[in-house]
Amino acid sequence: MGAPVKILLISASPHRLKSNTFLLAEAARQACAAAGAETEVVHLPDLEIKFCLHCEACHREILACPLKDGVRPLLDKMLEADGLILATPNYINQVTASMKALFDRSSHFIHCLRLSGKYVSGVVSSGSGRDKEVLDYLAHYAHTCGAWYSGGLSASVAAVPESRARAVEIGNRLVADIKEKRGFPGQDKIINEHRSHFKRLIEARKDDWPGEYRYWQEQGWL
Ligand SMILES: Cc1cc2nc3c(=O)[nH]c(=O)nc-3n(C[C@H](O)[C@H](O)[C@H](O)COP(=O)(O)O)c2cc1C
Repeated sequence: MGAPVKILLISASPHRLKSNTFLLAEAARQACAAAGAETEVVHLPDLEIKFCLHCEACHREILACPLKDGVRPLLDKMLEADGLILATPNYINQVTASMKALFDRSSHFIHCLRLSGKYVSGVVSSGSGRDKEVLDYLAHYAHTCGAWYSGGLSASVAAVPESRARAVEIGNRLVADIKEKRGFPGQDKIINEHRSHFKRLIEARKDDWPGEYRYWQEQGWL
């Protein structure tokens, strides 16, 4: 028996426990726990999340950041997890500002594909249930960080109660994908395109971003 699968649910609604999005994501998390996973929940509104300054400190020295707030401990949790459930309400066809601020602060994850080998599921709720752009964006974030996108679910507020069964499926699939180390034909092409792009960039900027250049060398990617 190996180490238990670790799942981190990151929920971006200011309504926290009363959030429709969280209700769905929580059903997915509970399914993960029932399948034997260790799970943890972080509500982004509980954290202070400052905006990225684009100072590039985290590229010069891995994960270095002049902003002292709740982000670094969360980035560490993301690195420790095998799977992430990213849950956000649809705010004007996007993730919430708190989730976007977290993504911006994780730009080192994108340069160094730090979520490689991990799996991401997306959960969205909205007034309309028209959330394709938001789910696509969550998948895009996963891929740019090197992760597989296991699947996503969205529901209008009215359809949240009846959508819980689908959320359970999302959770079950996430744990199964992790245990099977499932690959997704089609996604590998997208991830490899990101990898090639950043390989060129990391080589071109090696004097500016020595920490990330060393990371790429250590991975044997250069
Ligand atoms: C700032 C803001 C923007 C929103 N934009 C949209 C939108 O573009 N489309 C939509 O269908 N619902 C939109 N909504 C409605 C929320 O997505 C919806 O109420 C959602 O279920 C709230 O999730 P929560 O209960 O998890 O906080 C918006 C709500 C807010 C506050």
